[in-house]
Amino acid sequence: MSLSAAKSQPGSARMDKIKVSARNIVKRFGATIAAADISLDIRDGEFLTLLGESGCGKTTLMRIIAGLEAVDSGAILIDGRDVTALSPRERNLGMVFQQYSLFPHMSVAENIAYGLRVKHKGEAEISKTVDEMLELVRLPDLRERRPAQLSGGQQQRIALARALATRPSLLMLDEPLGALDLKLRRQLQAELKRIHRESGTTFLFVTHDQDEALFLSDRVAVMRAGQIEQLDDPTRIYCNPANRFVADFVGDVTLLDCEYDAMRGGIALEGGGFAPMTLDVDRRCITLVVRPENVRLAPAGGGEGLACKVEDVAYQAGTTLCTVRLPSGAVLKSRGLGAPSPDFVLGGEALAHLDDCRVAFIREGPA
Ligand SMILES: Nc1ncnc2c1ncn2[C@@H]1O[C@H](COP(=O)(O)OP(=O)(O)OP(=O)(O)O)[C@@H](O)[C@H]1O
Ligand SMILES: [Mg+2]
Repeated sequence: MSLSAAKSQPGSARMDKIKVSARNIVKRFGATIAAADISLDIRDGEFLTLLGESGCGKTTLMRIIAGLEAVDSGAILIDGRDVTALSPRERNLGMVFQQYSLFPHMSVAENIAYGLRVKHKGEAEISKTVDEMLELVRLPDLRERRPAQLSGGQQQRIALARALATRPSLLMLDEPLGALDLKLRRQLQAELKRIHRESGTTFLFVTHDQDEALFLSDRVAVMRAGQIEQLDDPTRIYCNPANRFVADFVGDVTLLDCEYDAMRGGIALEGGGFAPMTLDVDRRCITLVVRPENVRLAPAGGGEGLACKVEDVAYQAGTTLCTVRLPSGAVLKSRGLGAPSPDFVLGGEALAHLDDCRVAFIREGPA
């Protein structure tokens, strides 16, 4: 792989091509349905993440694509070719796991070269690729070290280099940052994004960390119980969740069932309260997705806003998160920049304003 490999931007010609297609995949383990008729297209060059809680079927889907697990029914296509009956080796895919899986008795360079030797590549090509890969993961000086002489983060970067060295059609990463501490994890996330961009390889990533998924991915598939609940780009997953499960799973949220009054230009809440806003909907009964950044607090007593009571104030590295309760019992969170304001104290009254909320679900009800 060359560092100048074709880069894929959303909307580019490459992205229009489908690299891997999972069609109607069904997989049971006894009574457990790990894949319940999953269909998924992974675009050429994209970074696609499977996000979901433990046991929802992320690893199983990945292993099925890799050919490590047989399907009960359905098909896997790579570059348009049906590979369902092919062995893992015949699929030309790369994998990186949570646990560092480097060969302990081999040097870093030998680890990276391993897959190329299996493919009987020549020495000159192997040496050149090892250099390129070490440069890609920015560890050119560690060539001769053994895995035991590397930090956890370095080991994962070498595991990435080893997986990318064989130029896989698709690189699958199953919680590769899961064993790292938070700070290193953040660093490696940025590295991973760069490596994806520079290598031009298609990445299928697995995590149960929603922030990680939103930060890294071109698209995120939110999974639950062997199914994909929503497949979308990170902004749409966050701002326009397809259903309550996705809204709840990704980020802090209040789902506010309310009535939209187009005549008055706002929403009326159960238990009283009216918040002015203009929405492009033609129904009355709607559900608003309210994130902490959509809620702005103002001191009680002055003008419009939803009357509420302050239940918690927490300072979190540069921002303050206030939790307030509306008369209906609904709890809203409000995030503002800077230190806590003396206007909002525990047990005190405040007025909440809702800005840029999204309508996620249009509930049944009179139009
Ligand atoms: N070999 C197996 N035999 C029996 N059940 C299995 C097997 N592999 C997976 N399962 C079950 O299938 C379901 C999906 O498992 P899978 O490993 O795909 O989940 P996951 O989303 O990767 O979870 P985690 O985040 O914990 O890794 C789980 O209920 C699991 O117990
Ligand atoms: Mg798993």
